[in-house]
Parts: sequence; C-alpha cells; structure tokens
Amino acid sequence: MEARLPLLSFFFSLFLLMVATRAQMTGFVSLDCGGKGNYTDELGLEWTPDDQLMYGQTASISVPNETRKQYQTLRYFPADNRKYCYELPVISRTRYLVRATFLYGNFDNANVYPKFDISLGPTHWATIVISYANTIEAQELIFLALDPTVSVCLSNATTGQPFISTLELRQFNGSVYLTQYESQFYLSVAARINFGADSEAPVRYPDDPFDRMWESDSLKRANYLVDVAAGTEKISTRKPINVDSVDRPPQKVMQTAVVGRNGLLTYRLNLNGFPGFGRAFSYLAEIEDLGPSETRKFRLVLPGIPDLSKPAVNIQENAQGRYRLYQPGFDNISLPFVLSFKFEKTSGSSMGPLLNAMEINKYLKKTDGSLDGSVIASVVSLYPSADWAQEGGDPCLPVPWSWVQCNSDPQPKIVKIKLSGKNLTGYIPLDFTKLSGLVELWLDGNSLTGPVPDFTGCRDLEIIHLENNQLTGGLPSSMTDLPNLREMYVQNNKLSGTVPLGLLNKNLVLNYAGNLNLHKAERGSHNAIIAGSSVGATLLLVATIASCLLMHNGKKKNPDRAPILVSSLGDAAKETTHCFKLSELEDATRNFEREVGSGGFGVVYYGKLKDGREIAVKVSTTNSFQGKQEFSNEVTLLSRIHHRNLVQFLGHCQDKDKSILVYEFMHNGTLREHLYGPRIHEPSISWIKRLEIAKEAAKGIEYLHTGCIPSIIHRDLKTRNILLDKNMHAKVSDFGLSKVVVGESHVSSRVRGTVGYLDPEYYTSQQLTDKSDVYSFGVILLELISGQEAISDESFGVNCRNIVQWAKQHIQKGDIQGIIDPSLRGKYDIQSMWKIAEKALMCVQLRGVMRPSISEVVKDIQDAISIERASDAAREGNSDELTRNSSHSSLVIGSRDLDASVHYLSVDESTAQPTAR
Ligand SMILES: *[C@@H]1O[C@H](CO)[C@@H](O)[C@H](O)[C@H]1NC(C)=O
Ligand SMILES: *[C@@H]1O[C@H](CO)[C@@H](O)[C@H](O)[C@H]1NC(C)=O
Ligand SMILES: *[C@@H]1O[C@H](CO)[C@@H](O)[C@H](O)[C@H]1NC(C)=O
Ligand SMILES: *[C@@H]1O[C@H](CO)[C@@H](O)[C@H](O)[C@H]1NC(C)=O
Ligand SMILES: *[C@@H]1O[C@H](CO)[C@@H](O)[C@H](O)[C@H]1NC(C)=O
Ligand SMILES: *[C@@H]1O[C@H](CO)[C@@H](O)[C@H](O)[C@H]1NC(C)=O
Ligand SMILES: *[C@@H]1O[C@H](CO)[C@@H](O)[C@H](O)[C@H]1NC(C)=O
Repeated sequence: MEARLPLLSFFFSLFLLMVATRAQMTGFVSLDCGGKGNYTDELGLEWTPDDQLMYGQTASISVPNETRKQYQTLRYFPADNRKYCYELPVISRTRYLVRATFLYGNFDNANVYPKFDISLGPTHWATIVISYANTIEAQELIFLALDPTVSVCLSNATTGQPFISTLELRQFNGSVYLTQYESQFYLSVAARINFGADSEAPVRYPDDPFDRMWESDSLKRANYLVDVAAGTEKISTRKPINVDSVDRPPQKVMQTAVVGRNGLLTYRLNLNGFPGFGRAFSYLAEIEDLGPSETRKFRLVLPGIPDLSKPAVNIQENAQGRYRLYQPGFDNISLPFVLSFKFEKTSGSSMGPLLNAMEINKYLKKTDGSLDGSVIASVVSLYPSADWAQEGGDPCLPVPWSWVQCNSDPQPKIVKIKLSGKNLTGYIPLDFTKLSGLVELWLDGNSLTGPVPDFTGCRDLEIIHLENNQLTGGLPSSMTDLPNLREMYVQNNKLSGTVPLGLLNKNLVLNYAGNLNLHKAERGSHNAIIAGSSVGATLLLVATIASCLLMHNGKKKNPDRAPILVSSLGDAAKETTHCFKLSELEDATRNFEREVGSGGFGVVYYGKLKDGREIAVKVSTTNSFQGKQEFSNEVTLLSRIHHRNLVQFLGHCQDKDKSILVYEFMHNGTLREHLYGPRIHEPSISWIKRLEIAKEAAKGIEYLHTGCIPSIIHRDLKTRNILLDKNMHAKVSDFGLSKVVVGESHVSSRVRGTVGYLDPEYYTSQQLTDKSDVYSFGVILLELISGQEAISDESFGVNCRNIVQWAKQHIQKGDIQGIIDPSLRGKYDIQSMWKIAEKALMCVQLRGVMRPSISEVVKDIQDAISIERASDAAREGNSDELTRNSSHSSLVIGSRDLDASVHYLSVDESTAQPTAR
C-alpha cells in the first residue's frame, strides 16, 4: 500500500506544513496537533506533528481508555477575535476528505466545555460544541480542491479556547464523490454507518483505501440509531462481495447487515448540520442464502416526507445477483435534523428488509472569498518571514486578519490595512494600489524606500499614513485625483520636489514636514510638479524590471518624456540593425523565387545567404502609411530584442519602394500547422512536446513583458505566430503589431488582433495591457490541450463557436477528458493536464486584473512539465512520437494567413497613427 507521493514543487506558502512527502496512500496527511515527533500508528497511518505552526500552545491530556498517541496532545489558541489557520498542500482539481477531531480532556483544567468555529477557507464549516470531556468530536468534509493549498481555520470562541487534536486529509481518486453541485457546495458528512457491525470500532483504513470511517451501528451515543424495531437481527458473511468500484463502501462493511425479521427496520438519529439539502445513499447487498421460493422486497418510508417511497427494492434483482452491491439513494433530498426512517417489506415479500450501510452528506454552501484575496496574497508573499504574513486563509472571512478590516459585502473588500511599525522594507508593494475598496492605509514607522506609488486605483482612499519611512521621489500629483482623501501623512521621509498644488487645499490634512528636499510649489510651477511625479513612476518601473535592453542598445532616452511611441524610436534603431543590400537578398532568394508564407503586410520568401545561413525574407508590398509604420515598428523592436524564444531578426533593407525584413529561417513552420494545418496527417505532437512549446513561447512573451524597458505587448499572439525550428523549439514571431508601453500600465490604441484570440476587455475598453497577451496565450494553451482551433463553427456544439466558452464549460464541470485532444491517445498525465487547463482558464478570465502574469504562467507550465516527465518516465513503452520523415514542403515565417476566415479586427483603419495614453 505504500507509495511515494511526488513532492510537487508548487506549494509556495512558507507557512505551509510540508508533511506529505510520504504517505500510505497518495495524498494522506495526518497531523498530530501538539504532537512531538513522527510516528506510524497501528493502522499504518503516518502521523506528523504540527510543530511548524507559529500560533497557539500545546497541551497534553490523559483520557481513560484512550491510548492512541495522537489523542495524548492537542493545540489550543487564544480566545480572541482572530482566526488560526492550518494550510495543507493539496492537488488542485482533486477531491479530498478533510477530517478534524477534537478531544477536550479538560486540557485547560477549567472544565468549561469549549465552543468555537471551524472554517475551510472562507466557508464556515461547523461550530464545534464540546459536550463531553472524554469523547472525540469529529467533523468531516468532502471538497474539490481548486488551489494548491487549502486552509482550515479555528476562530471565534463563544466559550473556552479553540483547540484541535488531529487534522487529516485523505485524497480521493477518479470521480469519487463527484456531484453536480460541487462548484457551489461542499459535502459535510452527517452519517456513515456500517450496519450489523461486529464491534464498536469503525471500519476504516486499510479496509477503506480512502480511510473513510464507517461507524459501527452498535456504538452508544446520544440519539444515534435509537427506536430500533423488534426483530432486528445482525447477519454477516465471509464470502466476497462485489462492490464494483472504489467509491463504494469497502467489502468488510458490506459483509455485515441488519435484517428485520418482523418485516421492519426502523431507526432514528440526529443528522449534524441538518435540516438542509443532502445526498443520501443506502448500500445493499444480499448476503443471505434465500431459498428458491423466497423473496426480499421492501420500501423506504420517511415519516413526514410522504411520496418519497421509491419503487420497491429487490436487492438481488437490482444488483443482478447475490453478494453484489446495489446503491439506491437521493442526489438531493431535503432532510430534517432528527431523521426517522423505516424499511418496510412489501406485502408479497417473504423476507424482511436488509441494510448493510448508509451514508448521508449535507450540501454545505461555499462562501466566496474576499475579492481582494489574490492581491493581498501577493503582498503577503513578499514578507515570508513576518509573523503578520502568516495568518493564512482568506483575508476577510470568516473573520479578518488581525491587521485588516473588511466591509460587509457578500464578497468583502479590504477597507483598512494597518501595518504601522512592522519593520517593512523595500518599496511600497504596488498591490496595495489595487485594493479598490481601501479607505485607510497605515504604513507608517517602517523602513520603506522608493517612490510613493499612484493610488488612483483606490478611489475611496481617505486616510494614508506613510510617515517615518525612507521614501524618495516626489509626491505624486495623482493624489489630487482622490476625491475622498482627508488625511495624508508623509512627514519624515526623503521625499523631494514640490508639493502638488492640488494637495495644498484646506480640506486635506497634509503633513510633509521633515522631508528636506520637498517644498511648497511657487505659484505657476504646475508643470514642474507633473514632471517630478513622472520621474517617480519611471524609477519604479526601472526598479521592478530586471534588465533593460532598450537602454543598452539605444540612445539614452529622456525618462520623463511622455510615453515613448515606437515610431519615435525608429531613427535610433536603424543605426544599430544590419542593413542588407538589395542585390544580396536577390541572390539569396534567387530573385524571390520561393514563397513560404504571407502576412498582414507582405510576402515571405525563403533564402540562403552566401555564408550558408538560411533566412526568411519578408517583403513589404504596401506603400500605405500604416504598412510603413508597422514596418518601422518591427525594425525598431526587432533590432533591440534578442531572446532564444523570439524569432531572430537579422537585418533589414530599405529600398525605394520595398521594405524588407530578414529573419532566421524556421524549418518547422507554425504551431498551427502542427496542430491542425497541412501537417495534420503526420503523427501529432506529444503532450510533453506541447508543454515544452508552450513554455518556450511563454518565455519569449515573458521577455517582451518584463525583459525590456519599455515593456512590449505583442498584441497578436496566436498559434500561427509561434514558429518551430529544426529541433521543434518554439519562437514567437511577428512583432508588427507590438506596442511599447511606458510609464503607464496600459496603452490605448486601435483594437487589433485576431478573432478568437482577442482579449474581450481590450476590445471593449481599447486599453491594451500585458494581460491582453496573457488572454491570447490562454487560448493557445486551450488549443494545445484540445487540438481544436480557437474559433470553429462545428467543433463546439450548438451556440458555441469559441474554444474559451467550450473549454470553460467542460473544465468547470470537472470534465477535462471532454476537451483533451484524442490524438494524444491517452498519453499524458492527468495532473499536468489539469494544471495547464486551469491555468488556461485563469488566463482567459474576463477581467485582465484577474489573469496571471505571463511569468506565473511560465512557472505553472514548468511544474506541469516536471509532473509529466516524472509520470512519463514511469509510463512504459514511451516512444518518441516525433520521429518521422522530414518534410520540407511547407516553410513558413511571419504571419501567414492560411485561412481567410480569420481576419484582423481593426477599428478605423484610416486613423492609423497609434496613440498611447
Ligand atoms: C517527519 O516527517 C516529515 C514528512 O514525512 C518530514 O518532512 C520530517 O523531516 C520528519 N521529521 C522527523 C523529525 O523525522
Ligand atoms: C476502560 O476499559 C475497561 C476494559 O475494557 C473497562 O472495564 C472500563 O469500564 C473502561 N473505562 C471507561 C471509563 O470507559
Ligand atoms: C462569533 O460567532 C457568533 C455566532 O456565529 C457571532 O454571533 C459572534 O458575533 C461571533 N463573535 C466574534 C467575535 O466574531
Ligand atoms: C483509485 O484508488 C483505488 C484504491 O487505491 C485504486 O484501486 C484505483 O486503481 C484508483 N483508481 C484510479 C483511477 O486511480
Ligand atoms: C436541491 O434541491 C433544491 C430544491 O429543489 C434546490 O433548491 C437546491 O439548489 C438543490 N441543490 C442543493 C445542493 O441544495
Ligand atoms: C527588521 O528586519 C530586519 C531585516 O529583515 C531584521 O534583521 C530585523 O531583525 C527586523 N527587526 C524587527 C524588530 O523585527
Ligand atoms: C523539423 O524540421 C527538421 C528539419 O527540417 C526535420 O528534420 C524534422 O523532421 C522536423 N520535425 C517535425 C516534427 O516536423
């Protein structure tokens, strides 16, 4: 039963308890709260202490007849208004059982039975009410993991102090506990009963591979299986039972049952968490040897719920034989807290009813987390060792972090941040400026450096405390745009320049003393103020981006000039690019003999230089202003950009009526062709190869976004613009539409791009950001998974032409198989597939701010590659799918429009001059 769980590298939170390196079954985590060392119990479960948790205290207890080590200790927390969280590593898109148990044992010598809350992420899971000092309380929940970690938090002690004895995570596989409601509901476990049990001990691991606990029906507990009908008899068998699939109860549970010798089985029990809607199933198997004339037929009767009586059950008939499982039940039924039920034989039946097991789960509505969850998580990740950054869980729910206040919206927003005197260093995290509901920000008394960022994203900001730091640069004039700003404290920093006039009105409390070089503006010097503030913004950009290519190659630029347009860089560029002679190119291409592609502004020819280098020669045929403009853009950009995952630009040639660009030649054409172009009849590219192509392309884009100053937005990413070299390595091509971004985080310009790949937010707002490229890249990822084109009239069913919509529907249902390219023939690891599918969905979120950065995407693709490699190595007979005869028939460079139906979208082509905001 022992298996090694590959330790996936994407668990990043420092606070995470890295405990699952080895487990009995993949995905078992057993935390002994307050425990000391690792140990294996008699069931073979491996326990680890929760000693990495920064909070709480541990206590030892002693309870009569309880010898299990995990119940000798516990961890307890202060009874305050905070929450205390465990973060557990999980595999996203996988279902788990999480079990928390509580054995009070009078650990505090107070003999006051505690009452407190427990939550899963932002969702209130249960209120733990201790009623007996020596009885274990347990809560179980079944959930579908959506993130790489899950947090279990204790909070809000109504009585006593919150405490916990064990926390266990059990991973399900396949579609065990898949329900149609799982996107909105968890399943909490109200009853899981083994009828006819031969002892009081539950049946669990290793009989149940998922370590579910099948409670014995002979357990003595208040209001648990009372009102038992006379004539109820336990029976059992040793014969094997065919339970058919792993999500059913284990055989041992099915080998025992109760029968109603008088024709009746009746029970009453309390259902924790109910009344409410739930999922209820009985598990039945005929384990008595009935004579040929004997029959067993019965009905379920729920008093107070008439008409639920399903058709009569005949186990043998329903299960098609004896010793086989039949599982009647309800996917969604309304049940009371006190459940009475009855199985009653039908009049024609000779035998009384029989019941082997039963499981009842309640649908527990999931609470949406704070809208600011991901933004604040990225702030917190900047301070991995600070204690305030370790609180875990959702920033607002069910109770906020100690330094955060939230509003009471259903999906709360953060309204106040108080991090005064917390020893913060570095720049003010820009993510604070993305908290759209922020009213008060306290960052005073730290060691923050760098400029004051632009807070115009926080429209409601009223009070800001930045005093007593080391901030530099000017006071941004954008502060004057905040309509509600009442108090602003920036004293005792190293700010310089002039105070924006707009801040000097009497309705604003402004303290800027103690900044030696910060002065009140002279009347009329408004321009100077604005210049000062834009220096601040530029500095910030320079500092956050690793390398600065344009600055290496180009002339020094005036940093506080208004956004630099590509066209304004043109002259500098031409000096640095290689200039080919027209005759040289005519020779190389044998007078433009072999056409290998065509794009938005010209035809591409194959060529071979005298030194043997193969080249692609792109000849611009348009004399329009726009064509020249784009040509010039491309020359400018390409001459400055060198990256192994970007098609290399070798030089250009400017003739009277021809504009020519020369690139390295890419032997294997476009990614599009390999997925569904002319090369479709060749064996399809393997999943690992697709992942590598995705990674390489993403790295090329990452370089454009972060490796260049100003950063560059591609604007027209698609499978046609990802080219493959001899060795099938990917490079991104076609920067004709690229835009440079300076100073601001977005550029507004005419909407351009290709249908199917176009960021809908960009299309409506016309504001281009790097997240528009991320959207297009998400579409590419979906194409890699599915082998489907971005837009199709047939492939996606009725009313759906778009790969994004189609894939979303499937992925959100958990049905990833429905979109995987059949030509992969099952040769992939499902976890790596999920990882990419989920990332792709993140990339195509409607709102750009919700999308990941391309760097995050690169990271996830790398993770997926590691997963795939590990499992690929394990898979047998792994043959190299790429080995095949070479083909030189199709040689492509640049944007080649194979398909007339895919056209450029262009809003007002005549106003060709791009403008930046
Ligand atoms: C306990 O087990 C965990 C996970 O298997 C491991 O990381 C840790 O090093 C172990 N600790 C000790 C003290 O052996
Ligand atoms: C502990 O177990 C012993 C032996 O099984 C039993 O006699 C005793 O009553 C139990 N004590 C408690 C407090 O349950
Ligand atoms: C604790 O929870 C109870 C019930 O949910 C609620 O009424 C109370 O306000 C909470 N107390 C705190 C401090 O959050
Ligand atoms: C699920 O787990 C069971 C029990 O370990 C195993 O037999 C089965 O093969 C697994 N199924 C899948 C699809 O992984
Ligand atoms: C169950 O059925 C009720 C009533 O038909 C419905 O309101 C509810 O959404 C369903 N699902 C869940 C998980 O409660
Ligand atoms: C402040 O941070 C520095 C550097 O991170 C650290 O060395 C120092 O101990 C911290 N001081 C306090 C009071 O936390
Ligand atoms: C890629 O191109 C090289 C050189 O033309 C060729 O040998 C190889 O077979 C091609 N690979 C694929 C997958 O097309």
